[in-house]
Amino acid sequence: MRKIVIAIDGYSSCGKSTTAKAVAAELGYAYIDTGAMYRAVTLYLLEHNISFDDLPRIEQALHDMHISFKRNRKTGRNELCLDGEIREDEIRQMRISNSVSEVSVIPAVRHALVRQQQRMGRKRGVVMDGRDIGTTVFPDAEVKVFMTADVLTRAERRQEELALKDEHVPVDEIVENLRKRDHIDSTRAESPLRRASDAVLLDTTHMMIDEQVDFVLERVSAKLFTL
Ligand code: DC
Repeated sequence: MRKIVIAIDGYSSCGKSTTAKAVAAELGYAYIDTGAMYRAVTLYLLEHNISFDDLPRIEQALHDMHISFKRNRKTGRNELCLDGEIREDEIRQMRISNSVSEVSVIPAVRHALVRQQQRMGRKRGVVMDGRDIGTTVFPDAEVKVFMTADVLTRAERRQEELALKDEHVPVDEIVENLRKRDHIDSTRAESPLRRASDAVLLDTTHMMIDEQVDFVLERVSAKLFTL
């Protein structure tokens, strides 16, 4: 059967990654969490005390750092590695969430990561989630979904995720972080967050994960039928 690219874009904490992961597992496709890559660059810059406006040092850092994903055999999860070391927990912390949008507006960062994402998906057979997959990384993706949900619902979901990792953050703080990121992500000059004209809209406010996964899988079946 022909392999395709499935692009899942949308706002933070709409269930993109959970949906994308389940769709990839169902189809036997690779799953690539592009947000994790922007988070990894942010972690690297913070750890190396590189200011977000120091372009020469950022360009050098992009050249030096190595971002990859490693499959955890026990959990089946694809874990983000920075310079060969798994950093999955650190990249999800609030200190990274609070800075990642500032890093992802930097054109040099976007160019480097977009190129790497295109290489990762060149053989197709991937589900990629992010903000600009359907518009910039794979404008020719065969299936494009744009996910959204009410901001309070998204904050409550993110709060539960953080609590599982023993990070207890008031919901108001998360709402504020999400609103700020939505604003920066949607208004930046370079590949802003926006729905591709051929992406189907999926509002997950009142949906369960299984319903979201079925929705995407139905789109995939319909597409494969036409190829
Ligand atoms: O999906 P996430 O919340 O882990 O993404 C973290 C940040 O990375 C998000 O605020 C915007 C940025 N991002 C981006 O600019 N482009 C992508 N393709 C993915 C994420």
